[in-house]
Amino acid sequence: MKDIYQPSLGSPHSGVVITGGASGLGLACAHALAAVGRPVALWDLNVESALTHAKHIAATYGVVALGLGVDVRKPEAITAAASATRAALPSVGGLVHCAGVVDQGSLEGITIENWNAGMDVHLRAIVLLLQAFMDDLRRQPGSAVVAMASINATLGNAVNPIYSAAKGGVLSLVRSLADRLAREGIRINSVSPGFIVTPMTQPALSALPGVFEKRILLERIGQPQEVGRVVRFLLSDEASYITAAEIIVDGGNVSSQRI
Ligand SMILES: NC(=O)c1ccc[n+]([C@@H]2O[C@H](COP(=O)([O-])OP(=O)(O)OC[C@H]3O[C@@H](n4cnc5c(N)ncnc54)[C@H](O)[C@@H]3O)[C@@H](O)[C@H]2O)c1
Repeated sequence: MKDIYQPSLGSPHSGVVITGGASGLGLACAHALAAVGRPVALWDLNVESALTHAKHIAATYGVVALGLGVDVRKPEAITAAASATRAALPSVGGLVHCAGVVDQGSLEGITIENWNAGMDVHLRAIVLLLQAFMDDLRRQPGSAVVAMASINATLGNAVNPIYSAAKGGVLSLVRSLADRLAREGIRINSVSPGFIVTPMTQPALSALPGVFEKRILLERIGQPQEVGRVVRFLLSDEASYITAAEIIVDGGNVSSQRI
């Protein structure tokens, strides 16, 4: 009886692939997971940064940490990176999809190219990642997946329609995949951050100081580790009965009517 209440944040002990792992929320997830002993693979467009951070994480936490240059919009790049990851990590029992970009051009700025690129990076990559790692996840007890959505999936704004549509798609894709993956004993959830300080949000936060905080119930912008710790929980046995869920980590933004 006592055993079932022991903390299990670092369990299972299998490795985790983190896309967008060289910056912001992906990097925070990598630190949070490595801090409880889980091997990590940081996949990112920015190969230099992925290598540097992987080296730092390995030295800091004493875990296997791999840095790889990968464009997750490209199916063949995902296949090659999956092989390299399999060779370097003891196992893969977790995926975190954080790679992303945000459009700024509103309706007028949408082109066929940037529409497809937005859907490919935020949405299609989830499917390709799962197809690449399905056998690995199936083999590891307690495997779990987290896809980064956003409060933009729920709150409308004129600025970034591609991003918002893709993030809305993440929520419904996760619910559909959760049914399929549950049959294999694999959980999948989405995390919707609100405003968190990262290189992605820094320009908007600097341009409009104090503006976004006004409607947030906790009256501050979030820190990357506040998302990393939630992702770590969802990938752990502590979250063994959570699948198909959207966990909102926004300090009380979506729920706010504060004026
Ligand atoms: N920061 C926030 O407030 C916030 C809020 C809601 C959702 N999110 C989501 O969280 C995720 C991470 O965002 P962040 O704030 O850490 O941004 P970030 O810009 O700091 O990090 C994103 C990383 O993804 C990488 N990347 C972009 N395109 C890629 C591709 N095609 N292949 C591989 N890597 C690629 C970038 O190189 C970068 O390192 C994104 O999906 C973003 O939409 C962030």
